[in-house]
Amino acid sequence: MNINKPPIYPVEPWAITELSFNKEDNYRNETTFALSNGYIGTRGTYEEAYPFDIDTGLEGNFVNGFYESEEIRYGEANFGSPLHSQSLLNLPNMKETRVYVAGELFTMEEGETEGYSRKLYLKDGVLERKLIWTSPSGKKVQIVIKRLVSFEMKNIMAICYEVTPLNFSGEITFTSRLQADVENHTRKTNPIVDYGPFGRRLEPLRIVAEKNRLYYRGIAKGSGLILACGCSHKTTGGDGAVRISQEADELDAQMSLTVDGRQGEAVTLEKIICYATDLDMGPEQLDIFTEETLNLAERKGYAQLEKSQKEYLGRFWETADIQIRGKDSEALQQGIRFNLFHILQSAGRDGKTGMGAKGLSGEGYEGHYFWDTEMYVLPVFVYTEPDTAKKLLDYRYATLEQARQRARILGHEKGALFPWRTINGEEASTYYPLGTAQYHINADIAYALSLYLQVTGDVGYLKEKGAEILIETARVWADVGSFADCKGGRYCICSVTGPDEYNVLVDNNFYTNLMARENLRDAKGAVGYLASHDPECLDRLKRELDFSEDEMRLWQKIIDNMYFPYDESRQVYPLDDGFMMRKPWDESRIPEEKRAWLYENYHPLFIMRHRMSKQADAILGMYLHSHLFTQEELKRNYDFYQEVTLHHSSLSTCIFGIVACDIGYYDEAYTYFSQSARMDLDDYHNNFYAGIHAANMAGTWQAIVNGFAGVRCQHSRLRFCPSLPADWESYTFKIRYQGALLKATVSRGEAEFVLEEGEKITFYIGEKEIALEGRGGTHVEKI
Ligand code: BGC
Repeated sequence: MNINKPPIYPVEPWAITELSFNKEDNYRNETTFALSNGYIGTRGTYEEAYPFDIDTGLEGNFVNGFYESEEIRYGEANFGSPLHSQSLLNLPNMKETRVYVAGELFTMEEGETEGYSRKLYLKDGVLERKLIWTSPSGKKVQIVIKRLVSFEMKNIMAICYEVTPLNFSGEITFTSRLQADVENHTRKTNPIVDYGPFGRRLEPLRIVAEKNRLYYRGIAKGSGLILACGCSHKTTGGDGAVRISQEADELDAQMSLTVDGRQGEAVTLEKIICYATDLDMGPEQLDIFTEETLNLAERKGYAQLEKSQKEYLGRFWETADIQIRGKDSEALQQGIRFNLFHILQSAGRDGKTGMGAKGLSGEGYEGHYFWDTEMYVLPVFVYTEPDTAKKLLDYRYATLEQARQRARILGHEKGALFPWRTINGEEASTYYPLGTAQYHINADIAYALSLYLQVTGDVGYLKEKGAEILIETARVWADVGSFADCKGGRYCICSVTGPDEYNVLVDNNFYTNLMARENLRDAKGAVGYLASHDPECLDRLKRELDFSEDEMRLWQKIIDNMYFPYDESRQVYPLDDGFMMRKPWDESRIPEEKRAWLYENYHPLFIMRHRMSKQADAILGMYLHSHLFTQEELKRNYDFYQEVTLHHSSLSTCIFGIVACDIGYYDEAYTYFSQSARMDLDDYHNNFYAGIHAANMAGTWQAIVNGFAGVRCQHSRLRFCPSLPADWESYTFKIRYQGALLKATVSRGEAEFVLEEGEKITFYIGEKEIALEGRGGTHVEKI
């Protein structure tokens, strides 16, 4: 991780700006300027469609949940290895727009470009490019292109392309293209996988150019999923009537619109783009849906879509924004907002889709959903946009049946085992030591669900879906381990991989055992709650899940007897049973250029035999359940893991920062937080081109709220433990808790809490109980 980079983009509070057309960094910038709404994702590519190659750019348009599948070829397959891949499919592109200025093609590679800026407006959810271009023959135009992916209409993306002739009057022609000859790059850029999607995977079923519209429908050859898309066009400005021509080939449809431009007057093309799939409707409805959705969006027009976009973003920032004030805080402020913006953009909101580790910003990790969603992203939504958190949980609930099947494949007669990597709910990880063996995903989902239930108080959800998830995940924990005589009859879980991907197939991973125990406890709590509050609901679950309360006796025995590895001499919890036996890590033996890429350069066995850790593991468990550990324990363990953790995953530093706060290591906490806040904006991992690191982005929010402000919700108690970084004057954030909205401002010497919405709220500062009543109710605490 190279953290010594100066800011790539100018530091400003509410925008990310690129000030020159920069081909060298195009690939990275495409991710920076990627837009999405949790459903459609589009990379920040240019309308001119410059011919970038595989190392310098990727046109990317995606729909959450829409994947292609191919048979996976294994050298040696195990029973239960996933047979089919799932890759978020790169879809036909409709952004492409070429502009002819009195017959000359606009391209920034010729003529002269002045006043260039490309700006992502974080407050508005709009990307805008502005420039003045002088053609090789001397025609001068001002060009302003705005783009958004609508939060109001999930199927819609819109572009407003404005051209103003500055020194002439003459023809302006827009040529808009639907380009369906698209293939994924993943296979070509990921040398360690041997599966596709190879080549173009969408087979066209319909391609039409008529009136002011282009339409396409195609079927993914492997998954059989069907996509329909379309684009409508409307020009304004210029003299006389617009002249339209269109044509369609098998994989390509085009529409040209020509108007007579007048010097000094803008000519505008509005493109409204729609994507829809048969995941949402019958295939026979797709064409009519596309047409009608375009009609509706066209009637609204770009301006209205932009207005509602701003309103939506306004509501988001109203709660989610964190303001920091103090010395050198501007760059961090920008990082926080950039990260939150991408988190907002990436989360599926329809209950049928989750959230990729890269959001919808690129093909990295094949668009798969991991535990990143539940452990990093979901807590942010739980406290700021609980409805979105609920939708993400709905997605897991919707895939419970696949998780049950997976548990059977793994030999568990009862319960459900969620997949480590997936899009459609089935396991898509091809290397089980780093995949299926990460059983902790079950407890992670249960943890996120429990957090949601505690913070929102949504008992209805517990009854409707939550209890079922808790019971089914718990059942796998009750089956996977055993009470081992050699460990004094304690419950041991062997051959799992914890979060740390450099210690694989280990026995008694501390994090896994801890999270499993809490999963069992939460499941037991849920059953107990239903028994006393809604016996009918419990009876239904018993019938449907063939569940008996007898199972809970075993759960309790496991809860009481869970084994944790412990090193007496250092008084720490090692990562797993074998951790202290492994060879100490000697970084000096590793050439610098290979250090961050161990799996690419060393055999897994070399990595696994060393005593070091890729990412936060035990430390994460201690943060999540910090009430179970003393300060001294936390300190000893933090110091220990600080020495052995390499932070080779982007999921690591934010967690260390939070625990550093818990134990009063404020300077270290600040350093970790700063790395997390600027990680993607300054491309510390040199791989931002492949997509955002969503988990870390959400981790930045957690590092402030759960770290500096010490927020925890344990046993339905909301607790703060506020601290202020030395360089800051103050910071302000808001959280939602059981129907209330609380604003917290931490400044030098005091923390102020204001009830902004809701009748009342009870929370704790350390052990002190605070109750606020009525809107505006305020408490100020000396810190
Ligand atoms: C990390 C995992 C993470 C995945 C996706 C890996 O490098 O080790 O914990 O889930 O990336 O972000």
